Amino acid sequence: MTQETIMIVDDDEIARRLLHGTLAPHYRVLSARSALEALAMLADGQTPDLILSDIMMPDLSGYDFCAQVKADPQTKHLPFIFVTALSFPKQEEEGLKLGAADYINKPVRPGLLLARIRAQLELAAYREKLLGQLDSSVNQLADSQRALQALTAERSCLFEVMGEMLACRDHYTSEHALRVAELSVRMGRALNLNTNDLETLELGCLVHDIGKVAIPDDVLLKPGRFDKQDRQIMEFHPQIGARLFARRFENPGIAAIILQHHERLDGGGYPNRLCGPEIDPLAKVVMVADIYEALIAKRPYKQPLNRENALGILLDEARHGKVLKEMVQTIEAVTADFDPLQLRLDTAADYLTSLESFRRKTYFREPLSDFYNYRYLTSLHLDGRLCQAIEHYHILKTDFNELKELNSQIGYARADTILDQIGRSFHEIIEGALTGHGLPTNALMLLRRGSDYLIYSECELTILEGIKASCQKVLDRARHDWGIKASLNLTSFPKAKSVDDALDEMDGYHRK
Ligand SMILES: [Fe+2]
Ligand SMILES: [Fe+2]
Repeated sequence: MTQETIMIVDDDEIARRLLHGTLAPHYRVLSARSALEALAMLADGQTPDLILSDIMMPDLSGYDFCAQVKADPQTKHLPFIFVTALSFPKQEEEGLKLGAADYINKPVRPGLLLARIRAQLELAAYREKLLGQLDSSVNQLADSQRALQALTAERSCLFEVMGEMLACRDHYTSEHALRVAELSVRMGRALNLNTNDLETLELGCLVHDIGKVAIPDDVLLKPGRFDKQDRQIMEFHPQIGARLFARRFENPGIAAIILQHHERLDGGGYPNRLCGPEIDPLAKVVMVADIYEALIAKRPYKQPLNRENALGILLDEARHGKVLKEMVQTIEAVTADFDPLQLRLDTAADYLTSLESFRRKTYFREPLSDFYNYRYLTSLHLDGRLCQAIEHYHILKTDFNELKELNSQIGYARADTILDQIGRSFHEIIEGALTGHGLPTNALMLLRRGSDYLIYSECELTILEGIKASCQKVLDRARHDWGIKASLNLTSFPKAKSVDDALDEMDGYHRK
């Protein structure tokens, strides 16, 4: 064990010698004749384990010396003992106030001095040990906190990745999830939920529809109403999603939100037809936010409702015991100054937009042929993607007048092949015109309706007249080769007129 060092500071040589004599057999001793000399030794790196100092000294008093030692971070922990002839309680009090550990009166009794020094050194060692332990605990805590932060960040990233996976599959569902999450968290705050519940709400909502990644395009992207089978397929999504999460995440609330967000309090929901008390409390928040967003958002198959109408529908649901009235009131309060539609998913990646529009378009591709069904136009119109830069659009329509006769003369299969060939020739004409004139896709689109072809166009009428002439040549050849009779009809419509109405008009059918 290394010997401890005691620093004696006293201007009286006899006093120093006496102290030195007492201490030297037990400790290494440093002596200073004044406080200034002691400070210089300390600054020089001669650090003792304890300081014994007189009070009454020339140049710098023991009090000022003590104050300087205690003010220096390097020396402030050193036990400081006054050894003095001043034995008034007031002086003793002053010395202790400055941070001195003890106060010993002269003449010094050696036994008492050694005992009190030993006590202070042990105390200092003990404090040192405690500080060391505290330091290591603080370091451990900081390490754990860093690890936890990294884990939390990683988990949030995981949820973001899942959100983006869903965005690749279906842009709308992903944007919907973002909005439902924000709405639910705001509702949660209004309901005074605790931080854990708010986090569960946010994460659960971000992935509540994640099961839709497994739903086939034919259902997921269907622009029209769902039939029974479509609904059955779509209603698998809570189970598919919950299965991904249950058992893999410690927080069961997330899987509960995914699994139960389509349940209703009266047992009329899916997938498990749970009733009020069986449904997770957080899922009761999400179901209302989910319905609200679905009502106010624009979708390819429906027009959006305004806030009042959406709240009206939710109140009606509450009246019929499907959702909690308290939740409807909460969402009413939350949406008074927050419109979830302002949250937009940033589809920075161009390929996502291209993929999405291609997938939506292929939904309309007729099976076994390369042609798109005319209803694709209806969906583009509903989506507001037609006539963005022009005032009129044009439709060039073929009519195969005596198709019935042709079918009976050459058979359906042959007649179909001929119609396909005509369509392919039209396709080539259109492709040539698009490339030749450098037109955007919306400028010319070939679509099929029954046995007829439609060419939808937003390009200049002169270009379309040229296309009409080329198509007429194809039809003339068809008449010559196969005796098939057809006519071409080109009509222009103002952008305000829907494609459906325009086609009705061309067919001679007028809506009342
Ligand atoms: Fe859902
Ligand atoms: Fe949803």
